[in-house]
Amino acid sequence: MPMFHIATLSGSPAESSRSGFLLQSAEAQLNRIGIATHAIAINRLPPAQLLQFETAGIELKNALSIIAAADALIIATPIYKAAYSGVLKTFLDLLPQDGLSGKPILPIATAGSAAHLLALDYTLKPLLTALGARHLLASVLATDAELRKDGVRYAAEPTLVARLTAGVAELAAVLPRRAPTFSTRAASRLQTAAHS
Ligand SMILES: Cc1cc2nc3c(=O)[nH]c(=O)nc-3n(C[C@H](O)[C@H](O)[C@H](O)COP(=O)(O)O)c2cc1C
Repeated sequence: MPMFHIATLSGSPAESSRSGFLLQSAEAQLNRIGIATHAIAINRLPPAQLLQFETAGIELKNALSIIAAADALIIATPIYKAAYSGVLKTFLDLLPQDGLSGKPILPIATAGSAAHLLALDYTLKPLLTALGARHLLASVLATDAELRKDGVRYAAEPTLVARLTAGVAELAAVLPRRAPTFSTRAASRLQTAAHS
């Protein structure tokens, strides 16, 4: 069975984060079906390396290697000022011009208001396209109202869980055509788990 690697990129500056929670839920779903994930939390990268483009620094170097080696990506961001987070842009600015070429991407965003969720379409998607991405899946979008704070964690509304599961299943299904049987089987296992 081929081993796929999916890089997950968290674009919230907050340690406890709604978009980060959805990203971790997506990681858990992928891990359960045998797909490895490699998490990059941009807020944990050294700020000086990020701001000064010190790509030789070990932390940034590792993060950029994870992106380069990934078969696909999940990118999660909060909506800030009707766009993706500045933290996310700072990191993506470090990628080479074709750094996302050949990598399917599932975008995830959370926002205070549903009115700004579509901002992803006219802010993040053009940026990802400029970096070479050609296969952008339908975004998983959530409002804060759909993510209740439950102690130190978040609890997602069932309809949101279903949307996330569908997005993750779609990503698993489009993993490199090297092994269509595996990816189709993985996607169908996810859908079955979501409905049991
Ligand atoms: C600086 C800042 C700017 C924000 N701008 C918007 C906005 O323009 N539109 C919106 O709907 N929500 C906005 N929000 C709310 C966040 O998008 C929302 O709470 C999101 O779920 C936070 O994600 P996180 O917990 O992953 O950081 C903003 C929040 C902050 C802190």
